[in-house]
Amino acid sequence: MPTDVLGIDVGGSSVKAGRLDTRGGALQGGMLSVPTPRPTTPAALLPVLAQLARSLPDVAPRVGVTLPSVIKDGRVYTAANIDPSWIGVDAVALTSQALGRKVVVLNDADAAGLAEVRWGAGRGLRGTVIMLTFGTGIGSAVFHDGHLLPNTEFGHMELRGADAEKWASARVRTAQNLDFPAWAARVNDYLHAMQQLFWPDVFILGGAVSERFAEFAPLLSSPVQLKAAHFTGQAGVIGAALAAAEAGD
Ligand code: BGC
Repeated sequence: MPTDVLGIDVGGSSVKAGRLDTRGGALQGGMLSVPTPRPTTPAALLPVLAQLARSLPDVAPRVGVTLPSVIKDGRVYTAANIDPSWIGVDAVALTSQALGRKVVVLNDADAAGLAEVRWGAGRGLRGTVIMLTFGTGIGSAVFHDGHLLPNTEFGHMELRGADAEKWASARVRTAQNLDFPAWAARVNDYLHAMQQLFWPDVFILGGAVSERFAEFAPLLSSPVQLKAAHFTGQAGVIGAALAAAEAGD
């Protein structure tokens, strides 16, 4: 496996990049972050990816890139928080062309979950583990005995008559100026609905807001064990690079 691999994580508000040391599961030299261009069309985003790749040169055969989308065989199927013109696009072909390298493309929450299960809060856990990322949307990644079921979209589960992520994401918290008790009450509703449907053993709560887990954890209640993501806002970058490092030919 290559030791020094570039990962790029495209989120609704920022595009983050870093180089993963695959021996230790840590980024070398921290992370670069730039605002996500709006509207987030392929034409606007591809030069941003290329610029980030130039700023963080690496020599691995592949780069890992996440999108906040369902990705099957490298193709984009959904675009909740990026421009709808991504739908139907062959993201692998387009990003490979822009970066001049082979690229592995995967869902952002799946990438974050892969990082946590390999080196973080989910390491060594058996049973059903659900990673939830709270950011612009809510992302989900489901693991059983360490194996990922890709492309779950539980941020779009219906809660109070609308998409759950429109009610309980981290962006909603800031946009509606909710304090932690008000936001945690919404997250509790969401965790309850998820628990009733999936009966997981552990929820890992991620996204940049999980850096503040200690502040809101006492407000959360669930019969399921709750763990803070170890890599918080870096998990997507680490997971993207991990997926690229492990991709076969
Ligand atoms: C998207 C998911 C993504 C999540 C977090 C949702 O709106 O549909 O694919 O994982 O946001 O970015």
